[in-house]
Amino acid sequence: MEIITTVAGLRQRLAKENAIAFVPTMGNLHAGHLQLVEAARQHGQCVVVSIFVNPLQFGANEDLASYPRTLDADCEKLQAAGVDVVFAPGETEMYPTEQTITVNPPPIANELCGAARPGHFAGVATVVLKLFNMVQPQVAVFGKKDFQQLFIIRELVKQLNLPIEIIGVATRRDDDGLAMSSRNGYLSAAQRLEAPRLQRALQLVVEAARKGEQDFTAIEAQTAQYLTQLGWIVDYISIRSALTLLSAEKTERQLVVLAAAKLGKTRLIDNLEFSLD
Ligand code: PAJ
Repeated sequence: MEIITTVAGLRQRLAKENAIAFVPTMGNLHAGHLQLVEAARQHGQCVVVSIFVNPLQFGANEDLASYPRTLDADCEKLQAAGVDVVFAPGETEMYPTEQTITVNPPPIANELCGAARPGHFAGVATVVLKLFNMVQPQVAVFGKKDFQQLFIIRELVKQLNLPIEIIGVATRRDDDGLAMSSRNGYLSAAQRLEAPRLQRALQLVVEAARKGEQDFTAIEAQTAQYLTQLGWIVDYISIRSALTLLSAEKTERQLVVLAAAKLGKTRLIDNLEFSLD
């Protein structure tokens, strides 16, 4: 496995590869990330993983400074997972000059996570497009844990005609159902015990929606209230079309319920796809 930190070095190493499967990450890798690597191995000859904590996608009051940076441990895991190339550029390599050209993502980027994190998805789409241009993969792999991010990346590829196949991988969870996340490390022991309730609340939403007795807005509000009573600070709970991410109509069959909520200062997100058939 090679660890490369410059764009020039990366281009040189990848020049003769023609079946590159790429996994972009911000590091502090866990088993969820490694599941993406496994999918990448099945879709390409040369697996490239990037590790870059992207300042452009963090808001002023967010955790950019404290975001865990664990490059050595990450590289050990990636080596064991059979990765060919790790691309770990520094900030000046990624942004040698001010990034005044940015991707303006579709309107959905202002909803759900984008409502509380203005500019977040512009930052994600911009760095992912830059990484795509640097790595020039045939396939790129993203997690469904960040469902809205995956949706926006698919739009990016479609609307800008990028010749890249996007693969979405199911969310990897701890045994108690908590979606694995680098941010879980911020949780206290008591918060960690409470955290799996987010996924369980989404399961309750699905059960209620399937019963069909209430409208979606009422189910969302009740679930938010339930979590709030248990000490969560709920950002949103929203039932959407799984295909468009727009507010779900009663007639839609392929749905997803998405949620973001804080335990103390730690913001957790999760989602659950379901159908009404
Ligand atoms: P990061 O949070 O490091 O996540 C990298 C990839 O791992 C994303 O595609 C994410 O959806 C996936 N992932 C995270 N937790 C997962 C889990 N429990 N199960 C399955 N997949 C999981 O997402 C980013 O970085 C950044 O926004 C990035 C795309 C790298 C752009 O900076």
